[in-house]
Amino acid sequence: MDEPSRALVAVVGAGTMGAGIAQVALEGGWRVALFDSQPGATDRARDRIRQGLVRRAEKAGASHPAPGDPSSIAAGQLARLTVARTVVDVAEGAQLVIEAALEDLELKRRLFQELDDATPADTILATNTSALSVTKIAESAARPERVIGLHFFNPAPVLPLVEVVAGQRTAQWAAEQGARIVEGWGKIAIRSTDSPGFIVNRVNRPFTLEPLRLLRAGSGTIETIDRGLVDAGFPMGPFALMDLIGIDINLAAARGLFEAFGRPPRFRPSPIQEELVAAGRLGRKVGEGFYRYVDGRSTGPAARFAGAIRARPGGPPVLDGATIAERVILAIVNEAFRALGDRVATEADIDRAMQLGANHPFGPFAWARRTGVHEVVVMLDALSDEDADTFRPALPLLREARASM
Ligand SMILES: NC(=O)c1ccc[n+]([C@@H]2O[C@H](COP(=O)([O-])OP(=O)(O)OC[C@H]3O[C@@H](n4cnc5c(N)ncnc54)[C@H](O)[C@@H]3O)[C@@H](O)[C@H]2O)c1
Repeated sequence: MDEPSRALVAVVGAGTMGAGIAQVALEGGWRVALFDSQPGATDRARDRIRQGLVRRAEKAGASHPAPGDPSSIAAGQLARLTVARTVVDVAEGAQLVIEAALEDLELKRRLFQELDDATPADTILATNTSALSVTKIAESAARPERVIGLHFFNPAPVLPLVEVVAGQRTAQWAAEQGARIVEGWGKIAIRSTDSPGFIVNRVNRPFTLEPLRLLRAGSGTIETIDRGLVDAGFPMGPFALMDLIGIDINLAAARGLFEAFGRPPRFRPSPIQEELVAAGRLGRKVGEGFYRYVDGRSTGPAARFAGAIRARPGGPPVLDGATIAERVILAIVNEAFRALGDRVATEADIDRAMQLGANHPFGPFAWARRTGVHEVVVMLDALSDEDADTFRPALPLLREARASM
């Protein structure tokens, strides 16, 4: 049945994120128009969305029984999805357009130019980019003030966080309305300035890079490092997490951030990631990454990493799990203070974003306050001889520690 009164969102790009975002909007009661440049992509997306809606209706039904069975609830929601043949058609009548095509600046700029021409000035144009500059994407539009970033996390139907990013020329109304719309879909909107990796992809980068450095140095094994972080309260160890995300996806994100920040040593991707990707050991999706998987279950570290990369005599010491976890947390805390200094977001928002978008058991600032900022500086100083770029205490942290003395 046609429901012309409902608001319409257009989604450009029907891959992993486009399909997930479309599902979120359908669950939120909106009509969704979907476009993808690849033949067959929207059919595959429709199947994935249907399965996702059924799963969500089953879950919701288990706690709050609703009239109708999950598949008819999902069919009703799916009836609000239409597929368009062009970028111009998909945007017709939409209040909001969300672009989730490939992570390629020139491609996104072409799309935003086209979308800007095709839509009235009050249509909000959003990009789901993970690491590109919203400002640079917006420059391709004649009316950049209505261009924002709406950064959903994967899987979009499950993870509650959306980073709402204002570019240099974004109007306040556009960011506010974008935030209100995703909140209406049940998401938690957190504002970020337009800085590489926004909040979570930047502040959480040490969660994988520091363990990779420790593994390479022989300071720990895949298992001791993963166990150390799980024991510290993280839902998953960094190597299990990289296997789940895909080592290729994680490497692409690491490379993007490394380049966007002007290649600082602390963001340098690990040769271990490069080697695994070159060897096609991409993680769970191919049955082998850091661990080996049979029928979707880990059977232990993959052969080449089994046991350990052992510490060499005279090399760095082998560390216990608690020391490893503390070191990774310190690297994250220091990056959080740097992001604060760069005015990426407020302390409270960074803490919330890390818990909601990266499933951390605590926010980095809360951890630093509990530990004591002065103590954090002492711990960072002790590590900065080994790796100054990661551990040299960030200026806002130093300032605060001095003020508290
Ligand atoms: N996968 C993640 O974890 C994740 C998380 C947050 C943000 N992102 C960002 O979301 C965007 C999409 O990522 P993804 O993982 O869904 O990628 P994907 O490869 O799964 O999907 C991209 C889709 O865009 C389509 N496409 C390419 N060019 C197009 C065009 N000109 N017009 C319309 N469609 C086009 C492709 O055919 C493909 O179906 C990227 O910018 C990515 O950085 C990804």
